[in-house]
Amino acid sequence: MTSTAQRSIEAVPTLPELLAGPERDRHAEQLTVPFSHVARSKRSFLRAAWTLHHHGVLVLRQAVEPERLQAINTEVDQLLDGIERSESPDLNCNAILNLPDKRSIKGYDNFVDAERAVINYRVKRADGRSGSDAGMVDIFHPERLNDTMATLVESCLHERLIARLLLAASWRPFQVKCRNLYVNRGVQDTRGYHCDGRSQKFKSFVFLTDVSELNDGPYCYVPTTHRDKRAWRRSRNFNKLNGCNRHEYTQLQGYRALPMLARAGDMVISSQRGAHRGHPQHPEARRSVLVNMYQR
Ligand SMILES: [Fe+2]
Repeated sequence: MTSTAQRSIEAVPTLPELLAGPERDRHAEQLTVPFSHVARSKRSFLRAAWTLHHHGVLVLRQAVEPERLQAINTEVDQLLDGIERSESPDLNCNAILNLPDKRSIKGYDNFVDAERAVINYRVKRADGRSGSDAGMVDIFHPERLNDTMATLVESCLHERLIARLLLAASWRPFQVKCRNLYVNRGVQDTRGYHCDGRSQKFKSFVFLTDVSELNDGPYCYVPTTHRDKRAWRRSRNFNKLNGCNRHEYTQLQGYRALPMLARAGDMVISSQRGAHRGHPQHPEARRSVLVNMYQR
């Protein structure tokens, strides 16, 4: 690295400006297409694909009907209630349980490769590092919990249409790698801005509850960073010099992040190469999201 490039890197991590108010609404509107239009009109489908290609993030309004949302929320509430009230929580569900004080499986790859659903209660890290998402319940393979959930999850995710959209947006075929259901209850220790590795992958997020304000812990995205090599290089150089994880976006001064406020039933799709994070929640807040990861 040249001394000039070194001087251009800030001495401390820098955050993007978080858009708010009418300005946030205006930016969000540019990224939004009604789901029904995308499903029925070729013109809207191509507009949605271009938006995702160009900005790295897209909102599909009203992708899921309220009845299905209510059914899936009721299933999840009953499941977690049964686990948290019971003295023998393992008997309450057809899943591998990782409780806060009783872990039965370790490591992300083992969660993904598990044949049954995995209900993973996230806890504070033993070494005290931040970004633990403590308080979150991350359910891997929620479609494997029971037949009702299999039907509901399938009908919420619209996988064939979304896979076609990703193909049109990136000119590459993508396949579903893993489905998750996140229940965040007062999660405050969220990871800062980062990317999910440098290979191309996408996630779709179906909001099962309203995310109306920052207190609800919205997903935040920095549009266009998925194809902005300068932003990535600045963070990479800072991370090397300061011993940070190489996938953190630590140099985002001058960029603007969009909190993805959404109504229950909306779907957000994003390129995971772009800078993103979950905003910390108010201690009393609750947010449920169904997530699909698409990989090549
Ligand atoms: Fe991420």
